[in-house]
Amino acid sequence: MSNYCPMTTLPPAAGYKAGDVLVLVGELFGRGYANGLLEEAKRLGMTVLGTTVGRRDSDGTLRPLTAEELAEAEALLDGTIINIPLEAGFDMETPDGVPSIAERLKKAKPDEWEKISFEPDFIEQARAAGQARFTANLQLVMAELEKRIPASSNIILAHTMAGGIPRARFFMPLLNRVFKGSGDKYLASEPFWNSSVGQLCDVSFNEVTADTFKYLIELSAPLRQRAEQAGSKVACTAYGYHGTAILMHGSYQWQSYTPYLQGFAKMRLEEHAATARQQGINATVFNCPEILTNSSALFLGVELSLYPLLTAIQHVAPAQAAPLARRCAELLAEGSSLDSLLETAAGYLTAPLINQALNFAAWPQHSTKEQMELMLLTSARLMEMHRDQKQLVCAELSRLVFRATGRLMVQASWSCTEPALWLNHDTIATLVSDPCGADLLD
Ligand SMILES: NC(=O)c1ccc[n+]([C@@H]2O[C@H](COP(=O)([O-])OP(=O)(O)OC[C@H]3O[C@@H](n4cnc5c(N)ncnc54)[C@H](O)[C@@H]3O)[C@@H](O)[C@H]2O)c1
Repeated sequence: MSNYCPMTTLPPAAGYKAGDVLVLVGELFGRGYANGLLEEAKRLGMTVLGTTVGRRDSDGTLRPLTAEELAEAEALLDGTIINIPLEAGFDMETPDGVPSIAERLKKAKPDEWEKISFEPDFIEQARAAGQARFTANLQLVMAELEKRIPASSNIILAHTMAGGIPRARFFMPLLNRVFKGSGDKYLASEPFWNSSVGQLCDVSFNEVTADTFKYLIELSAPLRQRAEQAGSKVACTAYGYHGTAILMHGSYQWQSYTPYLQGFAKMRLEEHAATARQQGINATVFNCPEILTNSSALFLGVELSLYPLLTAIQHVAPAQAAPLARRCAELLAEGSSLDSLLETAAGYLTAPLINQALNFAAWPQHSTKEQMELMLLTSARLMEMHRDQKQLVCAELSRLVFRATGRLMVQASWSCTEPALWLNHDTIATLVSDPCGADLLD
């Protein structure tokens, strides 16, 4: 496991300029973290190249985007996409013609999850087939990059991938119980994780969330060799999550969302960066705060630790924070105030049941029924304080976080030497109170 290494000072200004290139390794979604990287790269005049996961036809075949899909994706990116499918994982693989994991789980019933098992080697064979497909396509993408990017350009290879829930309907009700279940619906994360289907998720999360970064580091060796000869730089960055320090009772304290089952894969991601660093490769996992995105929608309550970011910014930059606070206050229902919102969130975050259970060394921790129920209840109570539950204070704060972390990551990628860095709420507050980040509050 990585040592806890927060970014405590703002990174020195990076030397990226027009002609340098940001490559997003992972598809861009409207409210996802990668938007922050994109915005920062464009601010610096860099070129942006995107990639796609591809799409599955109804018969399961993985294919590139159609002309129409490509046009839509390039419009969202405002840049060119290398149209080679980079879907990772192995749930649809049929090694030696055996039915895929998705096929096998088609008829599985959620309440029979404990009875499901797989014969030895089956998952490993499927995983190896998925790895072979992904790395072959990634190699093609790397060859395209060599063609399209001059050797003299500096490059950021930005890994954004995370996922790996096998595509079987059976999983959704089950995972909803693990991540959103209270009362009779509560399903403890530990027995789920230790079951055969939990262990399948473990292998799958490792493959999609972590090992794709390892493949990217390995297969980008030719790009680095070229850069070395030309005197340019290649940086590999990835988004991690390993808890976040937030403002509680007047000081910054590390905390995390429970149960974050992807956490095992996120630690493996950090290990890949550490191995690369030992070989002299510039690779860093930036551990980022909890925000609302397509991917985090499954984890109800993950947003609770985001609320105190507003307090943190108000402390360091009271005047500049006023428009942000006003925008947040306008989202609240009649009778609710920002003070009551922030107090409710703080009450949860500092509750002994939640706060005293925190343990960095034992992360990611499994759920308990009492912890889950308090988390879900508080999350729902805070949602109810809004005028419209589709327009949330946390969405406003999420936008600020993905923009701020994008700036920090691009700037730090130029010269940082750590395999894993935590971008905590204090760093974000420092950035937006500094002239080099004040525009992020607009
Ligand atoms: N949302 C959060 O609270 C949070 C916090 C810290 C770190 N992160 C990390 O930020 C990164 C971006 O996530 P996000 O929250 O912005 O959500 P997102 O949904 O916008 O991005 C998820 C990315 O993963 C890719 N992906 C998913 N399944 C894939 C597969 N099978 N093969 C290849 N690619 C696949 C998607 O194409 C997309 O690029 C992830 O690594 C995530 O773990 C998120």
